[in-house]
Amino acid sequence: MNQEDKIKQAAELIKKSNYIVAFTGAGISVESGIPDFRSPGGLWEKYNPNEYATYSNFLIHPEKYWTMHKELRDMVITAQPNPAHLALATLELEYGKLKVIITQNVDFLHSRAGNTKVLEIHGTTQTSRCLSCDKRFHFTEVEAFLDQGQIPPRCPQCEGLIKTNTILFGEQLPYDVMEQAREEVIAADLLIIIGSSLTVYPAAALPSLAVQTGKRILIVNREITPMDIYANVAIRGMAGIIMPKILSTLKELIN
Ligand code: APR
Repeated sequence: MNQEDKIKQAAELIKKSNYIVAFTGAGISVESGIPDFRSPGGLWEKYNPNEYATYSNFLIHPEKYWTMHKELRDMVITAQPNPAHLALATLELEYGKLKVIITQNVDFLHSRAGNTKVLEIHGTTQTSRCLSCDKRFHFTEVEAFLDQGQIPPRCPQCEGLIKTNTILFGEQLPYDVMEQAREEVIAADLLIIIGSSLTVYPAAALPSLAVQTGKRILIVNREITPMDIYANVAIRGMAGIIMPKILSTLKELIN
């Protein structure tokens, strides 16, 4: 089946669904200028995740994580939602069909695109806390420490180590957010998976839950994923190109 037919099939899946949940990964933000992790040229090619993104290593060499964070921050600050983010916002705001986005991303682009219910299962860079006294910080405060050359940033109250509220390897995912995500997958009639290699657990257990509970599944990804074989429709390509095509086909079907 060619891509045009798959796009039509995807639009038909969306048309007959009323409780759609989206599950997104770093690939959806690549066309906004933020590299993903595992593609050629991705973040983990430059920064070994075992050195830069594990909780245990953060406690020993926090300057490594904060150096990587500083480079990513400049990309995230200038990044704009791309047509794939905007397509998901339209599915919520115009069609009322998309009920929630479960994202592994910490770039805030879904909220900036206009979606109102976003479950950030890998945490957020919007807030940080001191690991010693638990003092909370907004990202603007932490960015100011970094801009003053403080790497790693230290708590002004107790000199403790400051860490963003993103989930590093070896850290527990936020239990309440994961519970909500599971409930949403079970309530869904369609799961749309965009821009994820589906290789990192427990996040990737959510699409598996959708398969186990008989949900319809649409995948839009540049490369093949381990879940493609279970999808009703799996489309290979760039989300920023594919998603608007699906939305314009949906518009024709509905009008
Ligand atoms: N459109 C669609 N898919 C894309 C695009 C694009 N423009 N660009 C890249 N992709 C696909 C890649 O082919 C890849 O399959 O997005 C996927 C990104 O996979 P990863 O880099 O593994 O990112 P992700 O799945 O989000 O990783 C999950 O791993 O390192 C941790 O915490 C990190 O949240 C991250 C988690």
